[in-house]
Amino acid sequence: MNELMAYYRCAIMEVETKFNVLNEEFSLEYDRNPIETIKTRLKSTESIIKKLVRRNFPLTVDSIEANLNDIAGVRVVCSFLEDIYLLADCLLQQDDVKLIQVKDYIKNPKPNGYRSLHLIIEIPIFLKDERKDMRVEVQLRTIAMDFWASLDHKLSYKKDIPEEEAKLLRQELLECAQISADLDVRMGEIKNRIVNKENT
Ligand code: GTP
Ligand code: MG
Repeated sequence: MNELMAYYRCAIMEVETKFNVLNEEFSLEYDRNPIETIKTRLKSTESIIKKLVRRNFPLTVDSIEANLNDIAGVRVVCSFLEDIYLLADCLLQQDDVKLIQVKDYIKNPKPNGYRSLHLIIEIPIFLKDERKDMRVEVQLRTIAMDFWASLDHKLSYKKDIPEEEAKLLRQELLECAQISADLDVRMGEIKNRIVNKENT
């Protein structure tokens, strides 16, 4: 188990570096950074066990690797919508990155209003005398989406709110998701008009 977790940590480092390299290159070429922040996390042993039990998977190390895609997580936060797809395309073009699954909650938001682009990828890590392909969950979102998701997360973890009030809050959050989606589009349009002015 310790070994497997170490491999996932290595995979996180690889993916984080790939995004840092892309960010560096874009800032040289276009004089701006597409990435605002990168957050990484390794799923805790407790959460791993809970998820295996919840999904009726065997409680073994092999089962973790075979059945769970989100042990290693990398969240990339961008200012603008278009940077999300740009970064995702650049990552997926790399010949050591294999795409396993895409969930585009930006084109198809969840009913609660959640938006983000989720990629499950497999990338190799190179050990002393072996190559191992590890799965990593990459979440790409804008600052506005990230802001929304953290508040939504807070609400989902509060179990002591009366159902009536929780229902109202979920409705409010859904409206805010729409406002923030509109904001993302408008801010992107303003940015493009500014960039176009600079280039003429
Ligand atoms: P999990 O078993 O929870 O990982 O869900 P899944 O396998 O169906 O994957 P999905 O791609 O839908 O969600 C994976 C991750 O995205 C979650 O662990 C959260 O980090 C994030 N996420 C998904 N839906 C929501 C949501 O409604 N609100 C918030 N705040 N985060 C979400
Ligand atoms: Mg998850």
